[in-house]
Amino acid sequence: MVNYQTIAKVREKVTEICSEKHFIHHKWYIEYHLNIVEKISLQLCERYFEADQLWVLLLVWMHDFEKIVRNGSIYQGTLGKEFLEDLDFFPEDIAFIKIVRYTYFLIIMGFSLFYVPHKYKNCYISKLLLDIDIFERKTDIKLVDAKIEIKIVSSADAAAHLIGPFYSIFWWENPNMSIENLRKSNGDKLEKDWNKKVVLPEIRDTYGNHYQFFKKNFEMTIPSIN
Ligand SMILES: [Fe+2]
Repeated sequence: MVNYQTIAKVREKVTEICSEKHFIHHKWYIEYHLNIVEKISLQLCERYFEADQLWVLLLVWMHDFEKIVRNGSIYQGTLGKEFLEDLDFFPEDIAFIKIVRYTYFLIIMGFSLFYVPHKYKNCYISKLLLDIDIFERKTDIKLVDAKIEIKIVSSADAAAHLIGPFYSIFWWENPNMSIENLRKSNGDKLEKDWNKKVVLPEIRDTYGNHYQFFKKNFEMTIPSIN
């Protein structure tokens, strides 16, 4: 079962593992990304009453889980170093390994489920993984056709990158890249987010000016003086 208690546990644990020094983004990931995604998603839930708020919150806190795992934090012991190191012998793209990783984490979080392959369709985790795959555009299902919960978190995720120091942090974290490449990478990220991940009109309306500001900035547009 997914309830507010399990969500609180997931939030707490993800916050803990993202704050470990071994996680490359530990100085900012919660405050300047996941907390913002959560706030924007909850605002959208007030507009889309049909959305399952618990599922939205679960997606918020789990949508980057694979990145967090892959960036080393969990290997330092939080979830069992040896177990996860063993999993690392398998190629990243083996879906089953991903399922095991998510299952292991969520069962520790207290989810009342057990992964049984032949019951795959009834498993919360498989639903979560499928939703995250749609979110990451790894399936044939387009975001515009996705469930409202996925649209909310995808749009909120992209909008969150337009708040605070997100793009500046990329410069700070990649001091060896050339300025030209940093600027181009930020511009590419901005366009991908805006054109592919923002699928709700409220975000387009509210964040249109933010997007335009960054776009002109990255394109080095020098405006004519009035
Ligand atoms: Fe994200």
